[in-house]
Amino acid sequence: MNRKPFIALDFATWEETSLFLDLFTESLNVKVGMELYLQNGPAIIEKLLDKDHRIFLDLKLHDIPNTVFGAVKGLAQYDLDLLNVHAAGGRMMMERAMEALHAAGSSTKQSRTKCIAVTQLTSTTESQMQNEQLIQHSINESVIHYASLAREAGLDGVVCSPHEAALVREECGEDFLRVTPGIRLKNDDKGDQQRITTPKKAKESGSSLIVVGRSITKAADPVRAYEKVVNEWEGL
Ligand code: C5P
Repeated sequence: MNRKPFIALDFATWEETSLFLDLFTESLNVKVGMELYLQNGPAIIEKLLDKDHRIFLDLKLHDIPNTVFGAVKGLAQYDLDLLNVHAAGGRMMMERAMEALHAAGSSTKQSRTKCIAVTQLTSTTESQMQNEQLIQHSINESVIHYASLAREAGLDGVVCSPHEAALVREECGEDFLRVTPGIRLKNDDKGDQQRITTPKKAKESGSSLIVVGRSITKAADPVRAYEKVVNEWEGL
């Protein structure tokens, strides 16, 4: 898997998506989330793969273990780089997700799809977590707890904010992925995100992969914004 930033394709239709992608001449790392996937179905995956884009399918699965097993088994037929589940679904649910990926094997792919766990959303503040989820710990403790649980369940990494990436690396090791959304170019609007930082700071803080949406998709010049993100991320 390459380490280029994933662009979050938070669009409603394939028409909007392909208008955006046509701005670029290269194949990209893209993230397909529930907005695009749930309105367009698996056909969206095939269209993106046909254009040689690499995909992080961000459906944040969270259900009983048997249902997540079935869902991941179905998704494992596609050549995805990454997919994710919610760590809050528990160890058994995460183990069943991995079982489905291992069962699918790698016959049609160069390597198995990696599975990562969402810890605490980057739009969640510590006080929201404490008051709404009744978790009486710091956000760092909650993220580390979920990361350890995910690692024990055999997952390949977590989604967390760049603010927690170094702690996760310390706890779970360099090879355990820290995929971080909540990325903004300097002076961009933070929108609904709370625990944010720049691509440069994310790299310095120990992120292994970054996900960038609105800083690129809503930019006046998305290609220029993407190049800026890549340059900061690659330390150019
Ligand atoms: O536009 P923005 O850069 O904020 O988009 C971030 C993307 O990452 C969104 O598609 C969002 O669903 C996703 N994401 C997130 N926080 C997580 C997991 C995924 O923001 N913990």
